[in-house]
Amino acid sequence: MAKSSYQAPRGTFDVLPADKRVRRRVERVAATILSRAGYEPIATPVFEDTDLFERGVGRSTDIVRKEMFTFEDKGGRSITLRPEGTAPICRAYLEHGMHKLAQPVKLYYRGPFFRHERPQAGRFRQFHQVGLETIGSDSPLADAEAIMLLSDLFTELAVPGVELRLGSLGSHESRSAYLEELKAYLRANEDELSKEVRERIDLNPLRAFDADDEGTRAVMADAPTLVERLEGEDAKHFAEVRALLEAAGTPYEVDPNLVRGLDYYTRTIFSFVCPALGAQSEIGGGGRYDGLIEQLGGPPTPAVGWAAGIERIMLAMGEEGGSTGRDAFLAAADDDQRQRALTLAIELRHAGLSAEVDLAGRGLKGQLKHADRIGARHVLILEADGSLQMRDMDSGEQHQVAPGAVLDELAR
Ligand code: HAM
Repeated sequence: MAKSSYQAPRGTFDVLPADKRVRRRVERVAATILSRAGYEPIATPVFEDTDLFERGVGRSTDIVRKEMFTFEDKGGRSITLRPEGTAPICRAYLEHGMHKLAQPVKLYYRGPFFRHERPQAGRFRQFHQVGLETIGSDSPLADAEAIMLLSDLFTELAVPGVELRLGSLGSHESRSAYLEELKAYLRANEDELSKEVRERIDLNPLRAFDADDEGTRAVMADAPTLVERLEGEDAKHFAEVRALLEAAGTPYEVDPNLVRGLDYYTRTIFSFVCPALGAQSEIGGGGRYDGLIEQLGGPPTPAVGWAAGIERIMLAMGEEGGSTGRDAFLAAADDDQRQRALTLAIELRHAGLSAEVDLAGRGLKGQLKHADRIGARHVLILEADGSLQMRDMDSGEQHQVAPGAVLDELAR
């Protein structure tokens, strides 16, 4: 076998044609669902000024502290391969004066993202997200709609075993009182906490809810939670989001310990998980980020959004490739029929069907085998006497068809 000593960098992978087909389906279904709801596509560069993520995502997060691919360009500027899409989209929103458009601005995107994490199943250094941002609405309807659209995506793709966890972080102001209470609680139990959590009590105490070690987990089981402390407008907002989800029949579970790895969240946060995936079980998540646009120098602008990991969705679907799903394969019974096969294939393609012919000089048996391998739904066999046989590859049923009836039969 032809092999070189070069390999894709650690934590990255090649998207091969079979894999690409499943991805395209995920992307297509997402685009259909989101455009039906009035969301429009946006694309931003794969790299940005480092400062955008430091400010936007937050200096205390693991992403900014440890996981960014940051380097200097030839002009001495610090640039970073985007670890996420929300800060870049907020940058674009401000840069292009989108705050002057009718609000909210509803956008979706897909593409590669980069995090220098320890690679493992479902965790890569280059991965792909499809995401949505609703910028310029503080209504709980926007939160509920965003959540339901992501839920629709998983339903439409028939991802099995998906659970929705919901939480609220309150606003920045209400959170600060709670954070003081949490820090005091962590300090009082410092001896049982992991070194990492202990070192971050001041910097990012909420992350203690996310720790894996038993000592910290035992302490956190009795820790005060933000959801219990929500008051006033924050409590009202959360109750409204919950009521909207309930009215729409979207099942969820309130998770008082839910935290997310980015600093910009306020109020609603949510996470869709597939527990069967094990350690990296979150297939998508997001929340409200009412302070981010202001943080980046814009006017106060409420917003909510999410992103879903395409590789994780594919893992959860158990799909790592698959058949091409061609409508038809045109098999020539002998060499004289090859030209007829190509002509008919072109005719079918012009009619909007997918059709392939053999380009490798296989005999009839080899062509039938190949048609099966690529997942063709029908094989049309062009016989030496000029007749045409149609075989249904699922049932194995075969019958003669008149050339003029092929399109009708394929459309059945
Ligand atoms: P995130 O939770 O960091 O949020 O990532 C969203 C999704 O990307 C995760 O749920 C997961 O499915 C996938 N993902 C993250 N890291 C990796 C990785 N290393 N390998 C494979 N998949 C991964 C955000 O990125 C926010 N920008 C979401 C958002 C949008 N919030 C508001 N608007």
